[in-house]
Amino acid sequence: MPPAWRVDVVTTFPESFEGFLEVSLLGKARAAGTIDIRVHNLRDWAEPPHRVTDDYAYGGGPGMVLKPEPIVAAVEDLRGSDGWVGLLTPQGRPLTQRRVAALAARRHLILICGRYEGVDERVRTLVVDEEISVGDYVLSGGEVAAMVVIDAAARLVPGVVGDAGSLVGESHADGRLSHPQFTRSEEFRGQRVPSVLLSGHHERIERWRRAQALHRTVRRRPDLLENCALSDEDHQLMDEFPPWDA
Ligand code: ADE
Repeated sequence: MPPAWRVDVVTTFPESFEGFLEVSLLGKARAAGTIDIRVHNLRDWAEPPHRVTDDYAYGGGPGMVLKPEPIVAAVEDLRGSDGWVGLLTPQGRPLTQRRVAALAARRHLILICGRYEGVDERVRTLVVDEEISVGDYVLSGGEVAAMVVIDAAARLVPGVVGDAGSLVGESHADGRLSHPQFTRSEEFRGQRVPSVLLSGHHERIERWRRAQALHRTVRRRPDLLENCALSDEDHQLMDEFPPWDA
């Protein structure tokens, strides 16, 4: 069976992806052939003999800009019939769980890692489908951002997470934060696990968890509720079960 999801990464630092792609969920899914992630060195598409990938900015200023020719050549080689091109840049569209799900649903992504002061603007106008930012801060390059995209999206590709049920109810899956979790011991440094979790009463536990998830979202991330207001049932649950740590 062909892999459900293919990603081609284009970077000037391919070695940064080494450990990341080999361990844990991604390592297993790649070994099983569920996903196919290939990392390419941009220099392979740069002009010999020096294979330079960057140059000074027209108009002056500090720092170097990635040249358009190698990137466009890489995309044209890798894109095939179904490739969708994302450029990692702090100027891009902010990544959310909803966007992550959309990227996981595409069959083939090409992720271009920006570097230095930026990427020649003609890359964006000629071959990029979307610019992606992983947050309002500046990384030293797009590599870590591409890893964020790959990690978050691969988990949503069918067959990558063994128990798909574990994706339901996790933070951001439904636009809200998740509920608090506890494991043994029942008491630790004077703090007891909420008794409802020890009751074995599954329906009550489920209701308690939903209430705690709502309290947590209201307190920590009220912005998430702007597009997804609380229902009457949500309010009832929150009244029935106050915050566990109030
Ligand atoms: N490259 C540098 N900073 C970045 C960010 N915040 N998101 C995506 N790519 C980046």
